[in-house]
Amino acid sequence: MLKTFTCQICGHIAFNEAPVECPVCRMAIENFEHDPDALKSPADPDNVTELEKTHIPLIELGKTCSLTASGTCTDVHIRVGEMEHVMESENFIDYIDSYIDKKYIGRTVFTYKHLYPSVHLQLNAESGVFSVISSCNVHGKWRSKVKLGDS
Ligand SMILES: [Fe+2]
Repeated sequence: MLKTFTCQICGHIAFNEAPVECPVCRMAIENFEHDPDALKSPADPDNVTELEKTHIPLIELGKTCSLTASGTCTDVHIRVGEMEHVMESENFIDYIDSYIDKKYIGRTVFTYKHLYPSVHLQLNAESGVFSVISSCNVHGKWRSKVKLGDS
């Protein structure tokens, strides 16, 4: 069972245990709450609803590393979701947090209107499990993962 702790200040989710300080907003461990229901998932995986399809992030491993000088990387495209989520003030994807082996590596913050809910990352990592959490300001947090080095 995935153990999740949520930062009450910035919404960041930590796995297994609460960190000494939040890697996103730097607030202290006291601001983390054990939160077993932090992540949403499809009620019926064989029958994913429209709402679920607009929130579950899709991860695709790419081939080219044009954003690195060396030309080497693990190329990752993230998009929310299979059906595109709207980006309007009352309902939008406000951030995507990325992890390798459940360890936080970075956050992409979005404003509404001018951005699609997508991210292009070039990882300095060849193996491990890469995962992301997409956060909707209304409909909660949704996680997807992919094993690196399999493509
Ligand atoms: Fe939403």
